[in-house]
Amino acid sequence: MTEKLLISLTVNGTRHDDLVVESRHTLVDVLRHHLGLTGTHVGCEHGVCGACTVLLDGAPVRSCLIFAAQAEGQEIRTVETLARDGELNDLQQAFSAHHGLQCGFCTPGFLMLAEGFLAERPEATREEIRELVSANLCRCTGYQTIVDAIESCARGRRDVGEDR
Ligand code: FES
Ligand code: FES
Repeated sequence: MTEKLLISLTVNGTRHDDLVVESRHTLVDVLRHHLGLTGTHVGCEHGVCGACTVLLDGAPVRSCLIFAAQAEGQEIRTVETLARDGELNDLQQAFSAHHGLQCGFCTPGFLMLAEGFLAERPEATREEIRELVSANLCRCTGYQTIVDAIESCARGRRDVGEDR
């Protein structure tokens, strides 16, 4: 018989105390199928492609490699949390402006990877950003435009910080 567990997760600022999951369910299963947050994509299910990247207590993680029960009590942010009141955030706007997406399947993973990284490394160099994006697979953009987008967003955030 499949073991059922009652878990609590805080997702995009909302606490869910009543999640009944199977012990085999991954975090991405629960985000997509229990909570309807289908912005997080599933590619390889082996921790290789990064399409399923979300933030777990602020750090980018592959949600296909984590059992939902392991995330018990933690804060999760998905791509749905980036836009506010229907307006794309600065990182999403940079991806659009620099043509950092084509088919877009990998884009939520890149956005969450970059969002978590820039929170830690606002001074990131282009070389560091290139190293960062090597963690995720995108088959259509050649990466150059993704690097341009993240670099532009980082520069914009630094400029705002200096103006304060
Ligand atoms: S679906 Fe999780 S790394 Fe590919
Ligand atoms: S935009 Fe197509 S795989 Fe990344």
